[in-house]
Amino acid sequence: MPKTNAASHPSEGHPDIAKVTIGPKELTARCKKLGAQISSAYQGRELMVVVVLKGAFMFASDLVRHIDLPLQVDFMAVSSYGDSTKSSGTVRILKDLQKDVLGKDVLMVEDIVDTGLTLAYLRQMLLGRHPRSLATCSLLNKGVCRKVEVPVEFIGFEVANEFLVGYGLDFTQRYRNLPFIGVLRPEIYQQHPE
Ligand code: IMP
Ligand code: MG
Repeated sequence: MPKTNAASHPSEGHPDIAKVTIGPKELTARCKKLGAQISSAYQGRELMVVVVLKGAFMFASDLVRHIDLPLQVDFMAVSSYGDSTKSSGTVRILKDLQKDVLGKDVLMVEDIVDTGLTLAYLRQMLLGRHPRSLATCSLLNKGVCRKVEVPVEFIGFEVANEFLVGYGLDFTQRYRNLPFIGVLRPEIYQQHPE
């Protein structure tokens, strides 16, 4: 039987995590605020929410619960890093949208904007399909790492230049299930040389 009292969660004592950067409560509170902000920015309109897989899946599922607007959800899967921790600068579309975005108010949902290369590429691609508007909501923003200037209209948290995992973000496809965002122990990277 699942316990109803979830007072302790795996952030305390996960063997691979050096420190927890953003805990579950902060994540929930921020999703609520962002949802309210988005709902008022698009009042009277219908949204097309484009979730950028895989990293944004958990954030998007929490965020849309707090958006009080008629909306549709579609998914796009991209790969920009391979299995390393550095951006390759090459974006591969692994799965495209099912719906046409022509004339729609499109809100892209991203996990993190780091160099900005992935988002810049996706924005160009989607703008070519002539949406009515195009904006991005990213849970995390690593502003210090930006290589190309790209607009991010809604930001959850500004973060430092550290490689983060959890709440959808991965290292070698692992740790996406952690209910918090944290920094991996250096030994974990050293076991996976690039
Ligand atoms: P960018 O192209 O450098 O902006 O990187 C965008 C993508 O790289 C994000 O959507 C993530 O999937 C991934 N990424 C960037 N930084 C991190 C990180 O600290 N942890 C996990 N994934 C990251
Ligand atoms: Mg991503």
